[in-house]
Amino acid sequence: MLRSRIAGIGRALPQRVLTNADLEQMVDTTNEWIVERTGIRRRRVLDDDLCTSDLAAEAGRKACAAAGIDATEIDAIIVGTVTPDRPMPATAVYVQQKIGAGCPAFDISAACAGFIYGLAIADGLICRGAYKRILVIGVEILSRIVNWKDRNTCVLFGDGAGAAVVAPEDGEPRGSASAILDLELCADGQHACHLDIPAGGTVEPTSFDTLERKRHYVQMNGRQVFTQGVKNMSAAAKIVLERNGVLPSEVSCVFAHQANMRIIEGVSQRVGISMDRFFNNIHEYGNTSSASIPISLSEAVEQGRIKRGDLVLLTALGAGIAWGAALIRW
Ligand code: ACO
Repeated sequence: MLRSRIAGIGRALPQRVLTNADLEQMVDTTNEWIVERTGIRRRRVLDDDLCTSDLAAEAGRKACAAAGIDATEIDAIIVGTVTPDRPMPATAVYVQQKIGAGCPAFDISAACAGFIYGLAIADGLICRGAYKRILVIGVEILSRIVNWKDRNTCVLFGDGAGAAVVAPEDGEPRGSASAILDLELCADGQHACHLDIPAGGTVEPTSFDTLERKRHYVQMNGRQVFTQGVKNMSAAAKIVLERNGVLPSEVSCVFAHQANMRIIEGVSQRVGISMDRFFNNIHEYGNTSSASIPISLSEAVEQGRIKRGDLVLLTALGAGIAWGAALIRW
């Protein structure tokens, strides 16, 4: 059976750091509240003169370098983002130009599950034998879509990008070897109302009225998202474990979407894998949506937290609601 693998991984984070102390000056909040409720201590914010495809291209180039290939050798680009450069065309085409590739390039919108959805599409294209080096990027510049006057949302998010080169299991390039063993994708549109940007699409086209009512910013029912996050991220994780006869004790490292430390603790309890086997960096970067898992994977590889042969579990949930999980032999 033909399988795909992650041949190289990379990340890009803005230089600028926004701390909880900075936020205390902007909205009615405290460092204690943010740390206790979310685990977040700081996040990164992209400079105004840069955009989504800039950060995505940087992460993409690093993933190619880690895989030992030139970016011109990439033969498809998939970008998971809810913060595109423009509503049209796809951010992936700007990434294509910036990295110097000449290949199909398209975006997917699965919010925080965007990287796992992208991995699943890349896996399918590679297992069909159609492509050999697919760049999957999770990138978000959430600082441009949050209302910096809304303490319910602005403390949660950060900017960042992570990228992976997905290649056939047995083919070149060798890079950091792994096999994607299984993927599970899910969505439930009945909960779409709990996390969205109400205006700017066809339902509420941008107008003076929508701008005045701040309908073009992220709106969220935090408690609903919290409940759905714990329940569904653990359910998807359990599905891929059980389907492959893998016990929780056999998993070396879990990469759960970095939404909120308490959500991750809930997932740990439900799946039966202790927190010391979860890789977390939410304190540093906040919630970077589709970028959170590839950023974490990239850091974990660099720190030697995952090694060849390790069983690695990914799980994520975001707006839609859309969620998924993946089981990888590193
Ligand atoms: N600082 C101080 N107080 C705040 C802040 C803040 N930044 N934000 C909200 N509050 C207040 C609320 O107004 C409320 O006050 P009230 O009781 O006077 O009305 C109080 O804190 C308690 O609010 P709750 O909603 O009960 O707080 P909760 O414990 O649920 O924590 C939180 C809120 C952190 C948003 C939580 O619900 C959560 O993490 N939900 C998941 C949201 C998430 O992760 N979203 C990311 C996108 S989706 C994803 O990535 C999975």
